[in-house]
Amino acid sequence: MQPAACQDDDRSPVAVQNIRAAIRAKYDAVAVSLSGKFSYPTGQEGAMQLGYDPALIALAHPGLLESFCGVGNPFSLGRLLPGQRVLDFGCGAGFDMFVASRLVGPGGTVYGIDLTAKMAQRAAENLARAGITNCVIRQVDTDIIPWRDDFFDVVISNGVLNLCPEKPQCFREIHRVIKPGGQLLFADVILTKELPAHLAASAEAWSH
Ligand SMILES: C[S@@+](CC[C@H](N)C(=O)[O-])C[C@H]1O[C@@H](n2cnc3c(N)ncnc32)[C@H](O)[C@@H]1O
Repeated sequence: MQPAACQDDDRSPVAVQNIRAAIRAKYDAVAVSLSGKFSYPTGQEGAMQLGYDPALIALAHPGLLESFCGVGNPFSLGRLLPGQRVLDFGCGAGFDMFVASRLVGPGGTVYGIDLTAKMAQRAAENLARAGITNCVIRQVDTDIIPWRDDFFDVVISNGVLNLCPEKPQCFREIHRVIKPGGQLLFADVILTKELPAHLAASAEAWSH
């Protein structure tokens, strides 16, 4: 698979480091409490509405769902198989990693990265409490994925790429680490029209 030609989409007048700082501030706070931070259903109710398997929701440690703010259900887009190596790009507090770990079983491994130290820490604690041992979590400061080329069978992501100001770099990295013929299961939100100028100029608007 060759990478699709990607235009540099960073047409935002806001500096990348300001956007990252706003996203870190937002998700550091989400790692503590979701309350009042999203305009769509989150937590356990959000997972139910997005069609996650109720049996897995019931099995999940409460901490995994307390900070769940996914925008869709990546597992509705394809099947994970026992033994696979899966990357969650933007793992948040770990609920999608938990689901993936159950699907790949003890012979597979689920890897997660997050830009936010508190989220990465929360995911590690939540997965340990849930008894999940086939997982690895790294906090990242840039859009460089800290694993080698052709490492993953599947990359999942849930509401993360819309938060990334340097999307071509993210897609180059995802393309680099996924095996030829691997699966991308992405749930995300897209803009369908130009933003008003006051939102386009706002670093905080990136984290909404
Ligand atoms: C909607 S949440 C992800 C939900 C998560 N999959 C779950 O199971 O709860 C978005 C996460 O992406 C992280 N994030 C944003 N930009 C990122 C980037 N460039 N690289 C890695 N993580 C990022 C945020 O810190 C946040 O924790």
